[in-house]
Formats: sequence, structure tokens, C-alpha cells
Amino acid sequence: MPERKPPAIDFAKVKSAATAALSEKGEIIYREEETFTDKYESDRLRTEIPGFDKILGGGIPRGATTLVAGGCGSGKSIFCLQTLYNGALKHDEPGAYISFEEPAESIRNTARKFGWDVDALEKKNVLKIMLKDPYEIKDFSKTLSGEMYYTFKDMGVKRIVIDSVTYLASTVGNNYEIRKTVATLARRLREIGASTFLVSEIPEGATGVGRYGMEEFVTDGVVKFHNIHLKENRQRAVEILKMRRTKHSILLHPFCINNKGITVFAEQPIFK
Ligand SMILES: Nc1ncnc2c1ncn2[C@@H]1O[C@H](COP(=O)(O)OP(=O)(O)O)[C@@H](O)[C@H]1O
Ligand SMILES: [Mg+2]
Repeated sequence: MPERKPPAIDFAKVKSAATAALSEKGEIIYREEETFTDKYESDRLRTEIPGFDKILGGGIPRGATTLVAGGCGSGKSIFCLQTLYNGALKHDEPGAYISFEEPAESIRNTARKFGWDVDALEKKNVLKIMLKDPYEIKDFSKTLSGEMYYTFKDMGVKRIVIDSVTYLASTVGNNYEIRKTVATLARRLREIGASTFLVSEIPEGATGVGRYGMEEFVTDGVVKFHNIHLKENRQRAVEILKMRRTKHSILLHPFCINNKGITVFAEQPIFK
């Protein structure tokens, strides 16, 4: 059978390439105005990252475990930091950032560069940035106890970042053990009532979302960050590969990192 290519998007009918998706037959199956919403619903966690909640139909489902995947320097850590900062500042939702490699002070410096007063929030105990040994998180997920458990409980933590699950996995034996560790961790974090962001480092250009090829199965959502090579330039883009209970965009959306952090262009086409 000859390969049937869907016809190009009719730009006269839609606002931009990023506002429409095509069916296999080439029909426009939705347009942005029908699908994307920025409406606030209490069962949605707002990242408050400009443009991002919009491509997610208003935000991430509360209590979800989200895999934040991408190559080195693609914006994963900044995305997570901005989500925690906004949650603590704008929604009174305490956040904990667990780093396994980058020192807490280095993460704070990134935030300070963007003008985010993380020091004030840490003083108020609504934000905590910590460098931890992976064994502590393993203890926590095994027994739901230990220092980390009490830190989360005391803060009433609502948003947790684990940066990165790739590093955590590298301390575990085989693929079966890795899968079990990540699945147990995700379940435990859900049990304490937080929404969780698991950072996954992937090699540039990789088609999957995790180095071990299974992280996506134990999470409710997958957000993938790209840094695409275009001639001499690179274009940053983000896409939602999966988000349970959510009618999300299925397109690549460009974003930038400037002195205010990340801004997603929910209504702009990716390639110009
Ligand atoms: N203040 C800033 N202004 C503009 N771009 C920045 C700034 N700080 C960091 N970046 C960009 O963000 C990248 C790092 O993003 P990060 O979230 O740490 O990546 P990773 O996906 O590896 O966690 C840097 O390589 C740089 O391109
Ligand atoms: Mg990082």
C-alpha cells in the first residue's frame, strides 16, 4: 500500500501549527480554542510557569507523579525549581527539592539569578532545597520513616522534586531493582499526599524518556524537554507525552529561558 501522508495544516483555518493536530486521515481533530484551557480547577496543580499550565489543560492533576525528562541543559532542573518556587510563593504549597548531585547552594544561586527569593521561603519553612545521599530516599521509600519523612511531614509538603531518578537508579543493581525502586518511591510520595516531579536525564536525541527504559510506566505523566539543533542554532521545546486524566496538547511547544526563568509559548509554532 502506498504511504499516505496527511495533508499540511491549512494555515488559513488555524492560528498556527501549534494550535492544531491532525488525525491519521489528515483532518484537523482539534483546535487550540476547543482544547486548551487555562481555567483554574482545584484538582490541578498550577506550575504558574507562563504558558505551561495552558498546554496541560490548566495544570498537572494533584498527587500525580510526573517524569521530567530531557537531555543535559534542556531546562529540567529550572522547570522543577520554578514550579516549587511558584507553589510556595503563590499557592502556599510547601515544596522540597531533593538533589543527589548538585549542591543546595548551587541550586539556590540559580534561583537567585532569576530573582526568586528562595532564602525567604526557606526561612518560612515552605521551601527546602537539600543535597541528599540516595540511600536516604531509599530508606524513606522502604519504611516511610527516617529524617526525610519527618521533614516532609513537618513542612506539610505538597510538591517534591527528585533530581534525578537517573542518579538514584544508578545506585541500584539491575533493571528489575531499578523499576521496583522507582515504583516504590512514586507510591510512597503519593501516600504522603504530595505531587512529585522525578527528573530523568536522557542522552541527547534519545527517543525514550528514561535511561532504563521503564521510568514512564511508573509515572502518571511525562513531560519531555528538547534542545533541538536547527542549522547553527538550537531551539528549546517542551511536549507532554502523557498526563493521566488530562486532555493535553500533543504538540511540541517552544520555550525560552531568560532572566525570569522559563516561558512556554503555548500558541506559537515550533519551527520558523
Ligand atoms: N539566567 C539564565 N538565563 C538564561 N538561560 C539560563 C540561565 N540560567 C540557566 N540557563 C540555561 O539553562 C540551562 C540549564 O538548565 P537546567 O534546568 O539546569 O538543565 P538540566 O536539564 O540539565 O537540568 C543552561 O545550560 C542555560 O542554557
Ligand atoms: Mg539538572
